[in-house]
Amino acid sequence: VEAAVCRIGLLGFGRVGQAVAALAASSNQLGDRGIDARVVTALVRDPGKPRSGARVPLGTSVRGFFDRPLDLAIEVMGGVDPAYACVRQALESGIPVVTANKSLMAAKGEELRAAAARAGVALAYDAAVLAGVPFIGALARRPFAGAPDRITGILNGTSHFLACALAAGRSFDDALAEAIERGYAEPDCSADVSGRDAAEKLTILAHLAGCRHLVPGDLPVFGIDAVHAADFDVARALGATIKPIASASFDPGNPGAWVGPALVDVNHPAASSRGVHNFVELREGDRAPVTFAGPGAGPDVTARTILDDVAEILAGAWRAPAIGGRSAARPADLRQPPAGAWYLRARHASFGVEDFAEHLAVHRVPALRLVSVGGAIAARTTPAPWHTVRAAADVLTSGGADVLLLPVMDATEANDERR
Ligand SMILES: NC(=O)c1ccc[n+]([C@@H]2O[C@H](COP(=O)([O-])OP(=O)(O)OC[C@H]3O[C@@H](n4cnc5c(N)ncnc54)[C@H](OP(=O)(O)O)[C@@H]3O)[C@@H](O)[C@H]2O)c1
Repeated sequence: VEAAVCRIGLLGFGRVGQAVAALAASSNQLGDRGIDARVVTALVRDPGKPRSGARVPLGTSVRGFFDRPLDLAIEVMGGVDPAYACVRQALESGIPVVTANKSLMAAKGEELRAAAARAGVALAYDAAVLAGVPFIGALARRPFAGAPDRITGILNGTSHFLACALAAGRSFDDALAEAIERGYAEPDCSADVSGRDAAEKLTILAHLAGCRHLVPGDLPVFGIDAVHAADFDVARALGATIKPIASASFDPGNPGAWVGPALVDVNHPAASSRGVHNFVELREGDRAPVTFAGPGAGPDVTARTILDDVAEILAGAWRAPAIGGRSAARPADLRQPPAGAWYLRARHASFGVEDFAEHLAVHRVPALRLVSVGGAIAARTTPAPWHTVRAAADVLTSGGADVLLLPVMDATEANDERR
């Protein structure tokens, strides 16, 4: 059978773009399915840059890019501008689009999905979240898998690598230098360290769960650098560890979200995951959660997910996500974390463990466990609403203590910690 030629234009030809072109040229996977994928052009800023792999005609003009007949566009340039205008133009010209761009889908997902629906063409973005784990299709197109009332994950590999290194006793600067050297982190890794990257990915998942107007700025976001090295020792004394968590609850009785470090019980699935590994857990009611896990970044794994999206589209198997109707959560509901148990730590405090315990009891967040490790006093509290524990923490801060307040992720939290 003669394979059908598919003329692909790449919007961006950096690490991921080059990996896509190399994989499309070298693998038999598409050919075996009757697809002859040919990258016929790529848009870049600087055609003079050294690049590796397959040779592709490069251009710097968006108009020139669209002057060629294309069967599909792959957007791997990153950022919102000019990616938004380019993707929109492709969709409105009837060209299906595959993108790996979380910033774009978090900021403009609603508009782009509408443009794709109007034009009747596909817009696939499995590689935008957990790049190497093609799972968005399950969340987006399957009514039972796709109805979680809680999503919890480790969505950023760089901050996870840093947290693991800190837990092993390394300094932050040392761990960051290694992450950059290994290619896990960019020299400018502010989006990873600050939590912005994870917030964008959680926003995309929240859209799919029905909270369609959420923007990353609605979410409470804290960087992994908020955690002191001593917190990892304290966490260990509490039978837990600290991980960079992104979590959203759409439960109307206890909605909320958190993007940042969290205390994770050793028996929680997130506790055993390591390095740049990512995972996402979908919970619905009291049912056992469904978990997807695997590599969260890297040009090669991302290219595989992108080309899986391409194959689905070309085979006519791609379906638009069914969004809305499943969750009544509004963006305003996700501006603070849901009620739950808390990790409250004080350093440089002028009080002792007993005073700390009494303070928490008076503020209606009694400690379940208290530890004093290396000059830090910390509690794992009973479940309480955010505003209650915040009030208790604010009093300690105004008394001069260095306070850290994090949510606790335990394996049963979705079932029995509602308040
Ligand atoms: N790297 C990963 O592991 C990974 C994983 C999952 C998702 N992603 C996503 O994939 C996308 C691409 O990532 P990447 O790592 O491949 O980035 P990258 O190496 O920086 O490549 C970006 C490419 O886009 C081009 N470009 C950027 N702005 C442009 C503009 N205004 N006009 C024309 N061309 C422009 C660049 O041109 P020049 O080459 O001339 O500079 C470059 O070729 C991002 O959205 C990223 O979040 C990346």
